[in-house]
Amino acid sequence: MEVVVCKTKEEASKLAAEMVTAQVKKNPKTVLGLATGATPVLMYNEMAKAVKAKKVSYKQVKSWNLDEYVGLAGTHDQSYRYFMNENLFKKIDIQIKNTHVLNGLAKDLEKECAAYERQIKAAGGIDLQVLGIGSDGHIAFNEPGTSLKSRTSCVYLTPSTIKDNARLFFKGKEKEVPTRALSMGVGTICEAKKIVLLAFGENKQNAVKGCVEGPMTQFCTASALQAHNDCWIFCDEAAAKKLTLKKYYAWRSATKLGL
Ligand code: PGA
Repeated sequence: MEVVVCKTKEEASKLAAEMVTAQVKKNPKTVLGLATGATPVLMYNEMAKAVKAKKVSYKQVKSWNLDEYVGLAGTHDQSYRYFMNENLFKKIDIQIKNTHVLNGLAKDLEKECAAYERQIKAAGGIDLQVLGIGSDGHIAFNEPGTSLKSRTSCVYLTPSTIKDNARLFFKGKEKEVPTRALSMGVGTICEAKKIVLLAFGENKQNAVKGCVEGPMTQFCTASALQAHNDCWIFCDEAAAKKLTLKKYYAWRSATKLGL
């Protein structure tokens, strides 16, 4: 695990976007795993800038998103399909038919999840997975108490996640937030060949501490990434604050990145 500590989230987002851009340049048929939430927005803007500057093209890229709320149509402004269209897909030259988001309205949720796993496998697996992290240490919607080997399935949100996400829903009301989601599993995520996780702000301090230095435990599902051999954590000073070896990680990762 490499921890890149930047002064600001802008700086961290730029570096993370450079890593994604480099991956797509190296392999124009890259299979991307993508994330939603407030955190990756700046990075997505940087990725879009690189497309506009003709540094890279996503024409042959395929993508699979981490998760989707159960009960929301892709046209709902809080659905993750909608988020991806608005915050990334419309800004880059990816073909919308090559983008995949779980269908939260599927009649048979189990079948939807099993098909998603099969699609990812058939595409050759995810080359680079983008992740955020929840304040409770979740990756995708894999809440505390989820098996570290879990596969894509229907999951239940914790009250703290519902609270965190309520700000985005109608009048910030918690009861507007769906209580279930379809989510890639921790095991599914850990099979990606490369992982880029972003974490910004004080609210993520404990989650980052658990992810990087905590014991590997289903109580903080991001800690499963400790066993991954090409995982990059891009964070700002605030999110990195509780790391015991912060200075060492920052020096090591900066050296590796040639900064
Ligand atoms: P956020 O969500 O980017 O909106 O903080 C992250 C997450 O819950 O994974």
